Amino acid sequence: MSNVANASTVTTVAAPKPQLVIDKVFKRFGDGPGAVVAVDQVSFDVRPGEFVAVIGPSGCGKSTLFNIIGGLLDDYSGDVLCEGDRVAGPHPAIGMVFQEESTFPWRNVLDNVAFPLELRGVGKAERLERAHHFIDLVGLGGFEKRMPSELSGGMRQRVSIARTLVSQPHILLMDEPFAALDEQTRLLLGDKITQIQQDLKQTTLLITHNLTEAVQLSDRIVVMTYRPGRVKRTVSIDLPRPRTSDVVSSAAFGKYVAEIWADLREEASRGMADAEGRTRGAAPRG
Ligand SMILES: Nc1ncnc2c1ncn2[C@@H]1O[C@H](COP(=O)(O)OP(=O)(O)O)[C@@H](O)[C@H]1O
Ligand SMILES: [Mg+2]
Repeated sequence: MSNVANASTVTTVAAPKPQLVIDKVFKRFGDGPGAVVAVDQVSFDVRPGEFVAVIGPSGCGKSTLFNIIGGLLDDYSGDVLCEGDRVAGPHPAIGMVFQEESTFPWRNVLDNVAFPLELRGVGKAERLERAHHFIDLVGLGGFEKRMPSELSGGMRQRVSIARTLVSQPHILLMDEPFAALDEQTRLLLGDKITQIQQDLKQTTLLITHNLTEAVQLSDRIVVMTYRPGRVKRTVSIDLPRPRTSDVVSSAAFGKYVAEIWADLREEASRGMADAEGRTRGAAPRG
């Protein structure tokens, strides 16, 4: 080819090095006939600043994978490399947000968010300043003195997010953080997460079973199969940013959702058949 002759004038732009590498990760629970392979040879990379969603039906191993990456389950095979280190315990560069309620009910918003800095012995003035910054970032400015019980579920989840962000993790890991919220709150919180992503360029890995959420937020979506959890497909979401909840009603958005649903549906059906089979097996025969 003619441009080969001009190779000296061609500059190669190297792809940014992955910040997180998940390489042939495998995890089995138990032994013998009752053993469950939760995660089977899962491999993908996450680049700095990228937002990647891992989507799959219930029981496909998403939380298991999340717990491995977060260092909560160190007994796995394959490798998780965070900035080059193999993860085998909580890594300081990784911050986690969970699905369950995780605010401290006895602390106000400010003290909840400042808590990780308190643990690290950061001085009061600095930790309050940093906590204020992240409270503003998640849109809770003015609620610093409120107790979690005075807030909505969506607001409490934002407190949890601010409390994780205050440690300035390089990688944010979220396991179905909106699962307990209603659809409207979920969409609005999605807007908030998108905005935080714009502001911080925060590398984020989101685990979800919600298709709309995944397409709205992600640069890339990793679709997992139902048990054993494997990577079925990876889809790049080429939609313009910033993506507000308006994007949700566009034709291009609908096309992504339909495409990924086709994959997911197959897996979800297998999951459902499996659950029904087990129920039938357990029922007394007549
Ligand atoms: N601690 C555990 N002990 C035994 N089995 C487990 C454990 N955690 C998860 N599993 C099993 O592994 C599979 C994947 O679970 P999980 O990772 O929670 O899926 P997901 O988050 O996608 O719903 C399920 O079949 C689940 O029952
Ligand atoms: Mg889960």
